[in-house]
Amino acid sequence: MPVLELQQVRKRFGQRWVLGGVDLVLPEGTATVLIGASGSGKSTLLRCVNLLETVDDGSILLDGGDITAVRADADAVRRRIGVVFQAYNLFPHLSVLDNVTLGPRRAQGVARGEAEGHARDLLSRFGLLEKAADYPDRLSGGQQQRVAIVRALATRPRLLLLDEVTSALDPELVGEVLSLVRDLRGEGMTMLIATHEMGFAREVADEVCFLDAGSVLERGTSQQVLADPQQPRTRQFLQRILTPGA
Ligand SMILES: Nc1ncnc2c1ncn2[C@@H]1O[C@H](COP(=O)(O)OP(=O)(O)O)[C@@H](O)[C@H]1O
Ligand SMILES: [Mg+2]
Repeated sequence: MPVLELQQVRKRFGQRWVLGGVDLVLPEGTATVLIGASGSGKSTLLRCVNLLETVDDGSILLDGGDITAVRADADAVRRRIGVVFQAYNLFPHLSVLDNVTLGPRRAQGVARGEAEGHARDLLSRFGLLEKAADYPDRLSGGQQQRVAIVRALATRPRLLLLDEVTSALDPELVGEVLSLVRDLRGEGMTMLIATHEMGFAREVADEVCFLDAGSVLERGTSQQVLADPQQPRTRQFLQRILTPGA
């Protein structure tokens, strides 16, 4: 059974459809990368999976259970899904350690000692243990975003959603964040990733989906979609993104 499955998911804002019937299947341990122009619906899709938006039609299954059903418990669903957005949104008044343990302690009732032990394990795995007592403003943007990913892992999610996690970073800080995500991919974390980093997409994606106006216009392996796109609009998009300013 796949970790995540989207069946004909449709979403509109007012009269305008922004997702036009999206199908996705993420088997355990795979990474699906969403690419597409700004406004094509990538963030909306991720927000629907995390139940930050309600879908208007279709279903989303997490471990086989329909999370879009009216009786689904949104809080319980969100505890099984880790999310990291573009702007690192750590709590500025909490230390790194407290940022990472907050979710498990508050949402899952994990005891402080156990939550801190797990947090230290995670921080040390990703080279951040020495920052445990620091406040976010003492960290570089790249370190903050790595902590945000560690925080998303602290609740032991089944699925990780990453929305443009490097686009707010200075170019020299992008690498360390992508490298962490690459490690997670190697460890078998199931991930749904929206990104403009095509080199990264090529490396980590089991499947690449090109979103155009809320529909998956083209999908396949990164080799197929990025190196040998069949649709003119995919080619256009890749050309634009690979030759900035053109
Ligand atoms: N809360 C909202 N209300 C109305 N329209 C929205 C809202 N959120 C997103 N949209 C619109 O939905 C479309 C898809 O946006 P988005 O999912 O953010 O695209 P992407 O992440 O690919 O840039 C855009 O046209 C955007 O303006
Ligand atoms: Mg977006």
